[in-house]
Amino acid sequence: MSIALSPDEIKRRAEALGPWFHNMDLNGVWTAPDHFLGDYPGVKFRGFGHVVPADLSGKTVLDIGCNGGFYALEMKRRGASRVLAVDVDEDYLAQARFAAEVTGLDIEFAQLSVYDVAALGERFDLVVFMGVLYHLRHPLLALDLIHQHVAKDLLLFQSLQRGSAEMMDVPENAAFWDVAMFDRPDYPKLHFIEHRYADDPTNWWAPNASCSAAMLRSSGFDILEHPEEEVFLCRRRDMDIPMWSGPVYPARGPETKKEAGR
Ligand SMILES: C[S@@+](CC[C@H](N)C(=O)[O-])C[C@H]1O[C@@H](n2cnc3c(N)ncnc32)[C@H](O)[C@@H]1O
Repeated sequence: MSIALSPDEIKRRAEALGPWFHNMDLNGVWTAPDHFLGDYPGVKFRGFGHVVPADLSGKTVLDIGCNGGFYALEMKRRGASRVLAVDVDEDYLAQARFAAEVTGLDIEFAQLSVYDVAALGERFDLVVFMGVLYHLRHPLLALDLIHQHVAKDLLLFQSLQRGSAEMMDVPENAAFWDVAMFDRPDYPKLHFIEHRYADDPTNWWAPNASCSAAMLRSSGFDILEHPEEEVFLCRRRDMDIPMWSGPVYPARGPETKKEAGR
């Protein structure tokens, strides 16, 4: 049920919870009216929302890195039976909780890192993993953990990308002396950001489009749709991963060896 607040009260509380990265319309009050990207992420979602099932009734959704809750709210609006939205940042979770309250959308929230999704102990029909990968020191680990522990069917993915937007048909193998392909702009490249990018010290990586696609495929996600440069809708594929090359987190140490009787 939505809480009945006057526009003035919504504005007052939204301002107290700010600044917002998600500019959302909460019963006529915009959460970030001066957002540098304008109506964001609404304007972005309108460009790719058609690839996400319009009817999610009976489906469960996990939104990892939910921020102000935009995608969690949209998935609930599409009828998902259950939406769990997680983020590491308690301030963003407070924004998302407020947005859910004002709009009357029933969403569950938890403070959780993507690295700890195994703790949820369940899989979700749709995992939303938008705008988080490039903020992680260990992006492939995160994708591996999502695959291993929480993804059941669909993954909606987005990353900041830089470099070529072309997709390379990556060869299965190449000879040791075949070095030219590495200089192709469309070769999968993950640009490392040692210091800061766009003033944000949590921007660690900027893949090109080919690299986002290759990392997704390599982590067990087949690409169904690529509606815009940064966005991919994927389907989880079972993978036969050798124990020693799967996601190791927390690191296996002497304790684990003892437990395993080795
Ligand atoms: C650029 S925002 C993206 C928000 C939203 N998913 C979107 O696409 O608009 C990145 C979000 O990821 C969250 N985040 C960063 N590291 C995380 C982690 N290890 N686990 C979960 N969320 C994380 C941040 O707190 C932030 O809310």
